[in-house]
Amino acid sequence: MLKSIEEPAASAVPLTSSGTTVLCHHTLRSAAAKAEFIMKLNEINQLIKRLGREVWLVTSAHAGQRNGLIATFVSPISIVPEIPRFAVALSKVHHTWTLVEASGVLAVHLLTVEQADLAFRFGMQTGREIDKFADVPYQTGITGSPLLTDAKGWLECRVEASFDTGDRTIYLVEVVAGGFSDDFSPLTQSQLLGMATPSQMQILRTQLAADAELDATAIRKWRQR
Ligand SMILES: Cc1cc2nc3c(=O)[nH]c(=O)nc-3n(C[C@H](O)[C@H](O)[C@H](O)COP(=O)(O)O)c2cc1C
Repeated sequence: MLKSIEEPAASAVPLTSSGTTVLCHHTLRSAAAKAEFIMKLNEINQLIKRLGREVWLVTSAHAGQRNGLIATFVSPISIVPEIPRFAVALSKVHHTWTLVEASGVLAVHLLTVEQADLAFRFGMQTGREIDKFADVPYQTGITGSPLLTDAKGWLECRVEASFDTGDRTIYLVEVVAGGFSDDFSPLTQSQLLGMATPSQMQILRTQLAADAELDATAIRKWRQR
């Protein structure tokens, strides 16, 4: 069975490291409806885990700084072939978010199974502390964003609009350039987690728990605004 970073979820779905159950029943009025929602949280999260999510490398640059992170919240949102648009959701605590906010540009890359090491490099540490691009061949795209030289599929984008959701910013981006090799299957989150060593898995779980706790606080605050 493939490993999942959400695997230990119990029936009550504790999503934070402190074991506190994060509930989003602010819209539910009665105590019975809230209790029913809590009962269903496990099923809701089982459904979410069924989604086959590609692993994207999202990069950006501003004022001489370059960085990137791994994201699964990346999706096409236009059916018009001549007007490609994407939605990209980035957590506000990440360094890459700071660069996208400042520059208004980003690039997204699909990775292959053979490039899983890049996913661990860009998804498990912050660019505030290390240069993730050291030894990684890249060129600068027309938006100024770093483009992975070995990318089999990439898109360069400009932010058209953004939406603050408390924990994240959802960017609506227009695609302004791109490249694609028709000979690859994108790396998925399940494949990536299946390739993680026990120590990498431990780091990912710890990171997820810490991020979820921050997100929960930010979402609750946002809902009370
Ligand atoms: C499989 C996987 C998926 C992730 N998906 C997202 C995502 O969709 N959005 C996001 O903001 N962070 C996501 N992250 C977390 C960031 O990639 C990670 O925290 C990164 O180290 C942040 O780097 P930065 O501070 O240099 O920007 C994901 C991480 C992994 C391992």
